[in-house]
Amino acid sequence: MSIRFDQNRRLFRIDTGSTTYAFAVSEQNRLCHVYYGQTLCGEGDLDSDLQQLTHSENRRGVDDDPLQMWEYASSEPFDFLTPAVLPVFSATHCGVSLRYTEHQLSDHQLDIVLRDPEQSVEVVLHYRLFHTPGIIARSATVKNIGETPFHLHAFFSASLSLPSDNWKASYYTGRWGAEYSLVHSSLSQGCFTLSNRRGTCASHQCVPFVALGNNATEEYGDLFFLALAWSGDYQIHLESDASGSVRITAGISSEDLDLSFSPGDSLTSPEVFIGFTPNGFGGMSRLLYDLEYDDLCIRKDSEPIPVIVNSWYPYEFSVTQENCIEMIHKAHSVGAELFVLDDGWMKGRSNDHTGLGDWWPDPERFPDGLGFLSDACHACGMQFGLWVEPEMVNEDSDLYRSHPDWVLHVNGKKDAVMRSQFLLDLTNENVVAWSIATLNRLLSSCRLDYLKWDMNRYMSSPAIRGNVRFYYIQNLYRIWSWLKTAFPNVLLENCASGGGRADFGMLPYSGRINRSDNADPVDVMKIHEGFTALFIPRLAGGAGNICPSPSSINGRSLPLAFRALSGMTGSMSIGINLNHCSPSELEEIRKYIARFKELRNDLHNSYVLRLRSVNESKLSILEYLQRDGSMVILFVFGHGLRLHEGECNIRLRGLAEKAIYTNESGLCMSGSALMHHGIRVGLQGDADACIHVFHKM
Ligand code: DGJ
Repeated sequence: MSIRFDQNRRLFRIDTGSTTYAFAVSEQNRLCHVYYGQTLCGEGDLDSDLQQLTHSENRRGVDDDPLQMWEYASSEPFDFLTPAVLPVFSATHCGVSLRYTEHQLSDHQLDIVLRDPEQSVEVVLHYRLFHTPGIIARSATVKNIGETPFHLHAFFSASLSLPSDNWKASYYTGRWGAEYSLVHSSLSQGCFTLSNRRGTCASHQCVPFVALGNNATEEYGDLFFLALAWSGDYQIHLESDASGSVRITAGISSEDLDLSFSPGDSLTSPEVFIGFTPNGFGGMSRLLYDLEYDDLCIRKDSEPIPVIVNSWYPYEFSVTQENCIEMIHKAHSVGAELFVLDDGWMKGRSNDHTGLGDWWPDPERFPDGLGFLSDACHACGMQFGLWVEPEMVNEDSDLYRSHPDWVLHVNGKKDAVMRSQFLLDLTNENVVAWSIATLNRLLSSCRLDYLKWDMNRYMSSPAIRGNVRFYYIQNLYRIWSWLKTAFPNVLLENCASGGGRADFGMLPYSGRINRSDNADPVDVMKIHEGFTALFIPRLAGGAGNICPSPSSINGRSLPLAFRALSGMTGSMSIGINLNHCSPSELEEIRKYIARFKELRNDLHNSYVLRLRSVNESKLSILEYLQRDGSMVILFVFGHGLRLHEGECNIRLRGLAEKAIYTNESGLCMSGSALMHHGIRVGLQGDADACIHVFHKM
């Protein structure tokens, strides 16, 4: 891995171990993108591209069409695409033409200072490398270096230009309870935009992410991808010209953005992680996994995510001290390691109309306080976790009665309600201070090992100004960052009505991401496939990854074996009411938890290979391949199978051809046999699943 500046060629070259990313300083000192893709070996490989650079700067006529490959698009002559940065100085004066000024580079970081000689705007482009080869994080800082204020109407993290091809954009869309469906769209001349306007989160509808390829498959084909580390409103513009070249401009949404910069002010954009793989969607997932395992995730590989029992699916708002204590004992007896007291514990919170904002235990239902439950957990060697939703308030709450002005307003009026709740205005410093003080009080009041931060509504309207949307999320990150520093040992789960905040902005803070409120394993066959395309399996949280039957979400009844194996594919939590289980059911659950604990370290340090997608068949076949190759665990799920539809030979991937692998019944097979001949599986009926474990000898 290296970052270099070739003085003679005026060429910046970032070699990530598997890719080369290159851009150059033009004659007129503009930064022009030159190449991104598989590693180039020769020093002079890009010389002919460099000779073309001046052409971009000197338009000859209207037939002169190729898309201009600016490294960070500003307002350049005849560039008709979206500028990455748009400062506005007055009603008649906007835009900058950025020129290279200087740079600083180290082994892992490059900062390039760009200025407009006639304006008081400085933009610094940042490029950051990781342990993970193939990924670059890009961001930008804007600074007012003059003496008069200006406003920013657009501030994207990066532009990225790709040469002409038949580009297809692939992205993960859906809705609550049915998140992360992979969708492909062919790009044609014009602008295609992925975006979020809901303010608080995006991932129910569309994860802030895009991949670009030309018919890449699961394991083959070039794929460029880009993941934005932002949990609010975003835009990813894909602008194609007549030749099929495309420029991607990605970052916070510029809709109605109007950030003011006084002299000396500066602001840094969120990062985008950009990557390239020649190995299709599987290769993309493995690069993202390496990035998460080795660089982004806060939880170390050596700290297993505990097996959780959560009160939500069993009791919802009828949770009480008595039923919790009973559940804690049952949870302990089946081998669970952490009990989460979910929604419903606060003063008056017996339904969703009341109690949000008053973060005190309900005196009638929890007469001995949270400490009593925490002590009960710790007394039997378990940990204790608590649900909170600090961004919200019900109108029927003491907090609202004392601070009605703290809720987010739209055009001077309170926002419309959703789930009977208002958003607190996180752009108000008093709200931030209250939020930190409340969390501090709660986390110090008893021994808390886990905090589930929920968020159950969207902003109602684009009439909430762009700046409010932006600063809301910035301040949210400030609070999460305080939490991480003040309580480093508390495991934070990020939940937003399930998977609304399954995004890369949350990765530095949360060790568990709620995958979806929908834990029905047949639906999970699809949801988990999408989630694990982007995120490592140990992040795949939720209130009950082993869900109740019938499922409270879609009413489907399924056998425990199927539900338990589904739970094992993510971060295990039990949503079954253990207080209502028979001794034999508890015993069965205990066995599955024990089995999961045996495999957990391997499952949670694996790549997930999608051997067969539920989008293409009735089977979902997932191979969990240990990163060091020492073990492979195969899950096969089938639903609604006609006779013979569940019979197949499954050929594994990524093994060592000559190594011998042995399974738990002593069968020995070479990697070549497992990969080329495969293993025979026969599932049948409406919900059948199996697991196969192979160790490398
Ligand atoms: C939505 C979450 O996704 C659920 O797990 C649960 O915590 C409820 N909110 C509680 O209101």
